[in-house]
Amino acid sequence: MTSLHKPSSTRDYVISILIAAGLFIVFFAYLSVRRGYFFDAPPTADILYVPNKALAGVGTLMIAFTFLIGPLTRYCKGFGSALQIRKELGIVGAFIIIAHGIASYFLVPNKLPRDRFDAANNEFIWGLIGIGLLVFLFVISFQKMIKLIGAAKWWFLQRWGLRLVILATVMHVVPMKWDGWVKWFVEGGKVTPELARPLMPSAGILVSLFVAWVIVVRLYESVFLFKNPGLSSKEIASDPNLIAKGRTFFLASFWIMVVMQIILLTRWTGQ
Ligand code: HEM
Repeated sequence: MTSLHKPSSTRDYVISILIAAGLFIVFFAYLSVRRGYFFDAPPTADILYVPNKALAGVGTLMIAFTFLIGPLTRYCKGFGSALQIRKELGIVGAFIIIAHGIASYFLVPNKLPRDRFDAANNEFIWGLIGIGLLVFLFVISFQKMIKLIGAAKWWFLQRWGLRLVILATVMHVVPMKWDGWVKWFVEGGKVTPELARPLMPSAGILVSLFVAWVIVVRLYESVFLFKNPGLSSKEIASDPNLIAKGRTFFLASFWIMVVMQIILLTRWTGQ
């Protein structure tokens, strides 16, 4: 718990920004190969169309990491100190997602015209809810706010706030992308001026599979280990049986997720 409301640390911000920059380079490379361009889009798209996808992917992964750090420190010895940077990872991720929201709304007019975003568009509303929650969590992350709210209430708000951000992300992305993912898996895709290698999986499907794994691990812990939905603080570190059980599930589900990523990456290899 102490590391949750530790003062912000410049070192941890630098590490978080470096992680985000590293991820951005990976997305840059992957999307450049899949699309055939990054900024240099054909006239039907926008300069920021593909960079905005990279922002969405990097920000979502950073937020998923903040959700994963608890289990990671419980089951993987080498990650004991990772709890330190959870807050900074989340804040850097939040700013990247805010940039994705701003870019989607204002800066990608060809592909994402502004009239697409209205109150009847559920995916848009879920995205806004997610960003609203991230801003709220950022505002209450300051030491002064923690003192004002009280540690126990603050802990509760952070825990449930982050869970709701993850829920909003799922509700924002899955309905928007699901049909396209299924179509790609069943039929593949055709080369267009905007998409040089359509048989590579979209970055969105790979990111979403990772997020799904993180959710499964956290749900497993809540239901089978803590047997507590998270209304009060819990600690399993003192129970070696629960830790062993958790580690087995964590590692088994991790490898299943890796195999599923490989299935997606090789789905159309050789075609
Ligand atoms: C917690 C908040 C949010 C998260 C975690 C999030 C995350 C994502 C992710 C992972 C994708 C899929 C990207 C891809 O397919 O490569 C996406 C797509 C998209 N998001 Fe968000 N988003 C959020 C908020 C918003 C908001 C507020 C808006 C609108 C202002 C928005 C607009 C869009 C649009 C239009 C797409 C489709 C982009 C495309 O296909 O190129 N998002 N988002």
